[in-house]
Amino acid sequence: MDPNFAHKQAAALRAADLVEHGMVVGLGTGSTATLFIAELIARAAAGLKIRCVPTSERSAAQARDGGLAVIGFDATKFIDLAVDGADEITTIGLDLIKGLGGALLREKIVASAAREFVVIADSSKMVDRLGMRAPVPVEVTPFGHELTASRLANLGADVVLRAGLGVTPYVTDGGNFILDCHFGRIAEARALDDTIRSIVGVVETGIFAGMTQRVLIASETGVAELRAG
Ligand code: A5P
Repeated sequence: MDPNFAHKQAAALRAADLVEHGMVVGLGTGSTATLFIAELIARAAAGLKIRCVPTSERSAAQARDGGLAVIGFDATKFIDLAVDGADEITTIGLDLIKGLGGALLREKIVASAAREFVVIADSSKMVDRLGMRAPVPVEVTPFGHELTASRLANLGADVVLRAGLGVTPYVTDGGNFILDCHFGRIAEARALDDTIRSIVGVVETGIFAGMTQRVLIASETGVAELRAG
């Protein structure tokens, strides 16, 4: 049993209260987002009508299996509310590291299309600076990934190709690989994000700088709401 389950559940339920009839909702990926999706499924069964844009094949499967209407960007150009988990969250600025679950590319596309992007998490995810606990996941093209890895190492990271099943690398929903880049404490998240994305072969990074409007963070004392700015 996940020791943080009750906190994740509390944050997920609070986020579900933000969902209104008729909304287009971005569905995150990971153990916390799964609880949010489960709550939306329960509310939809009770009459809530929404359309959903999932950030991974597994969140899409959960949503479809539960009877939610799943759409893509061929059917909408905007998302009213996107709700997702995170691996690290800075107390000041609400910058994030995401992607330990492997869905960072679709997560970033969905968050960028959202009128409001809300992060749900237990309090263990809060940090003073990004990189203190989690690596920065970087999605890269399989072709040339060894060269891309050496360029990332030149930025000062300890770079690890994420493993999949057996001896094969992990493959994302987009057919790419992930390089987990251990930088340690990151002084300037946005600048590092820009630098990494300028490397040929990099598809996207798991640094979400300045994208989060609201964080619902659950602990023993309840669910606290943090807002950017
Ligand atoms: C998925 O790719 C990730 O970005 C997750 O949102 C993140 O890893 C948080 O997952 P948990 O809610 O399982 O901690």
